[in-house]
Amino acid sequence: MTQAEATTIFEEEILEGLKARNKYLSSKYFYDARGDELFQQIMKLEEYYLTRKEHEIFTTHKEAILQSIYDGQTFRIIELGAGDGSKTKILLKHFLSRGIDFTYTPVDISGNVLEILESNLKADMPDLKMESFQGDYFDALAEISTSPEKDVVFFLGSTLGNFTEEEAVGFMSKLRSFLKPNDLLFLGVDLKKDPSIILNAYNDDQGVTREFNLNLLDRINDELEANFDRNQFQHYPYYNPHTGECRSYLISKVRQEVIVAGETIHFRPWEAIFMEVSKKYDEVQLEELADKSGFKPINSFYDQEEWFADLLWKSEK
Ligand code: AVI
Repeated sequence: MTQAEATTIFEEEILEGLKARNKYLSSKYFYDARGDELFQQIMKLEEYYLTRKEHEIFTTHKEAILQSIYDGQTFRIIELGAGDGSKTKILLKHFLSRGIDFTYTPVDISGNVLEILESNLKADMPDLKMESFQGDYFDALAEISTSPEKDVVFFLGSTLGNFTEEEAVGFMSKLRSFLKPNDLLFLGVDLKKDPSIILNAYNDDQGVTREFNLNLLDRINDELEANFDRNQFQHYPYYNPHTGECRSYLISKVRQEVIVAGETIHFRPWEAIFMEVSKKYDEVQLEELADKSGFKPINSFYDQEEWFADLLWKSEK
């Protein structure tokens, strides 16, 4: 996709969401340069336990994870949305130290992210066999999953949580269609827990998560000649313990009009824009997800408090 095509899609999707009866914006657009920076800050927050917990799981269970993945054959780790690789590094280092023959293939839409990741990992692990792929997850899988080698697809950090239930089934079913019978999926999911812990993770004291949401309004101002006044919006996260969805909204504090790409968007007082879902799962919902998307659970790894889980699933077919 060219930059011009990406800009057109961005404009279309933003306007579609702002003109909907229940306004929404897609959280996939949070991640411009400033958004990436804010997400790095979020991962270091005391309230944002997710990164810490997955780190703990890898540190504690690295050998058990290896034993579940490795059957004596060489394999390839395909990591979707690799980010800075700081957690995955724990496993990669361990696998190397055990003399295992594998290749690491991080996939990311951002060439910049991959370059940084590659130089970091290579400096730390000169023996690591690494073949990065820049692009969309499914384009990458379509192109690389045809090799006969055993693939283990890593989809970590509760990224699946940013899909609604229906989207998650669609995504997982499509992902499964690229797997060969012996391939595996290693999936990081956040679990249901005390609702106040979850809400705090999306409503930190320093206001970084609030800023992370408001940054999308700034991005729309910069890229689509819009005039959002961020001071007229309130960040409001809301957790539903039944569905496990933590949803973030930006709520208009006043009646106002905003111009976006030449179109006028009207806001009533207290009208909300749905910004992001961060879904937390329980065991029944995970079983259903595996079932509906054609996966069979093989093994599960938890942190000590069972706040987070990394699941090993294989294709049922
Ligand atoms: C990337 N994703 C898993 C994060 C989450 O927890 O949903 C994004 C995030 N949103 C607010 N804080 C972090």
